Amino acid sequence: MAPRCWRWWHWSTWRRTRPPLPGSTPSFRQRFSTQEQPPQICVVGSGPAGFYTAQHLLKHPQAHVDIYEKQLVPFGLVRFGVAPDHPEVKNVINTFTQTARSARCAFRGNVVVGRDVAVPELRAAYHAVVLSYGAEDHRALEIPGEELPGVFSARAFVGWYNGLPENRELAPDLSCDTAVILGQGNVALDVARILLTPPEHLEKTDITEAALGVLRQSRVKTVWIVGRRGPLQVAFTIKELREMIQLPGTRPILDPADFLGLQDRIKDVPRPRKRLTELLLRTATEKPGTEDAARQAPASRAWGLRFFRSPQQVLPSPDGRRAAGIRLAVTRLEGVGEAARAVPTGDTEDLPCGLVLSSVGYKSRPIDPSVPFDPKLGVIPNMEGRVVDVPGLYCSGWVKRGPTGVIATTMTDSFLTGQMLLQDLKAGLLPPGPRPGYAAIEALLSSRGVQPVSFSDWEKLDAEEVSRGKGAGKPREKLLDPQEMLGLLGR
Ligand SMILES: Cc1cc2nc3c(=O)[nH]c(=O)nc-3n(C[C@H](O)[C@H](O)[C@H](O)COP(=O)(O)OP(=O)(O)OC[C@H]3O[C@@H](n4cnc5c(N)ncnc54)[C@H](O)[C@@H]3O)c2cc1C
Ligand SMILES: NC(=O)c1ccc[n+]([C@@H]2O[C@H](COP(=O)([O-])OP(=O)(O)OC[C@H]3O[C@@H](n4cnc5c(N)ncnc54)[C@H](OP(=O)(O)O)[C@@H]3O)[C@@H](O)[C@H]2O)c1
Repeated sequence: MAPRCWRWWHWSTWRRTRPPLPGSTPSFRQRFSTQEQPPQICVVGSGPAGFYTAQHLLKHPQAHVDIYEKQLVPFGLVRFGVAPDHPEVKNVINTFTQTARSARCAFRGNVVVGRDVAVPELRAAYHAVVLSYGAEDHRALEIPGEELPGVFSARAFVGWYNGLPENRELAPDLSCDTAVILGQGNVALDVARILLTPPEHLEKTDITEAALGVLRQSRVKTVWIVGRRGPLQVAFTIKELREMIQLPGTRPILDPADFLGLQDRIKDVPRPRKRLTELLLRTATEKPGTEDAARQAPASRAWGLRFFRSPQQVLPSPDGRRAAGIRLAVTRLEGVGEAARAVPTGDTEDLPCGLVLSSVGYKSRPIDPSVPFDPKLGVIPNMEGRVVDVPGLYCSGWVKRGPTGVIATTMTDSFLTGQMLLQDLKAGLLPPGPRPGYAAIEALLSSRGVQPVSFSDWEKLDAEEVSRGKGAGKPREKLLDPQEMLGLLGR
């Protein structure tokens, strides 16, 4: 792969080469003689960032956008992350589908950028490249015992119940009584909810049949959701907490002692945090209302929040063959509010459990040695989506700003990247002259034995999934095996 010296322009010169004054240079129309040379742009990744960036780029009346995706299917975490019991969130797929069906947009699935084709090759073929490839790894806990059977990343667990091909064999053993989830973000609550929801409530969702089968056999009765900081620092949001509180057949376990003195401290916190903490406080300290009490009385399952506990070691079973518990370092807070840091007090607590799910965040990986990458922050260094030091290269979504934020945040961020790119195009800051676009990449991929799939191929797979789900009253039964998918496409 080409070394970094292929850069044709130091990004720091960008500010000095700002758009020239009108009239002093050939116009935009002259630079990009629009009839013969429409801007050829490619986007890497077909999650929300990829699709929203493409949507914005297509506002340019001639731009052509190719979206490269490593999976055979589009939509990233909307398909493989968003919980099956949140179907309304997946409605964004309709907008993405409209974008993909545009005559000036093409989906190129089954192409792993960085393996099947290098970023410099894409840069040579297109006027601009946008990296929107998300955050595919999980953050490791880096504690002893993390590798024991019975310990999973939430990323893999979510991938398993959502039909991500690489996680289809996960088969978590749910024969234990207690599960511990490390981390208190929305992913932790998704995972807790899927573990505790009565399976019959999931039957009409797009959860995979294999996952549903395992969940039907589950003996998990208690799920602890463990945070290293306190109730004022939880990362989940109020809607997701409310769902947990109202989950059929379960009851919450919150220790009122964790909430002492909190009422006074929440007066000055921002409103969303205040409302969230008030709900936590009420749940922990007040008797449930009639409706909640009636639902909780016969509950056979429970979930609880454990605060001020940082994971220290996964404890093995006596034969050393699987996880049997977790040792937690007791912490106290240094500082106040969102910025408070958890500091170990020196005390520890052992919590027995047969399943440990680590939900401490996702992580982006570097895609190609030619692309700058900040391993500490796990992002591509950029200024408003322009990759630092590499003109013509842009980024959007989680790989641009780190693995936090909902789809709406990703949309705003991706539109901004699209806007920057179009500004640069207009200012003549992208390479002039013709670019072959997909024609050049197609030849490369073909010589490497890679068979890209199109959006109409996806529509065939989509129709097959919908038809397989129909019998069971599900919106779809996801195809899990890439070989089977290729077979269905006649490859
Ligand atoms: C478990 C989970 C549940 C969530 N639930 C919600 C929710 O209910 N509501 C909400 O608003 N937000 C939710 N989010 C957040 C939302 O999913 C993200 O904001 C959004 O998906 C980020 O978009 P992205 O395009 O940057 O990344 P992704 O969605 O991850 O998309 C990246 C795409 O790039 C592809 N890719 C990766 N590497 C390559 C490569 N080398 N070559 C080609 N393609 C590649 C991937 O396959 C993927 O399709 C959830 C997140 C998670 C993790
Ligand atoms: N329904 C939805 O809208 C939905 C669903 C799922 C995900 N999402 C979004 O997707 C994004 C990612 O969610 P996420 O839950 O993966 O990440 P997150 O919101 O960043 O939460 C990560 C959690 O892990 C903890 N953590 C991090 N490192 C740790 C360590 N070393 N030891 C112990 N705990 C550690 C964090 O605690 P500290 O705060 O102490 O660091 C935090 O509680 C979020 O923006 C989320 O809102 C949304």
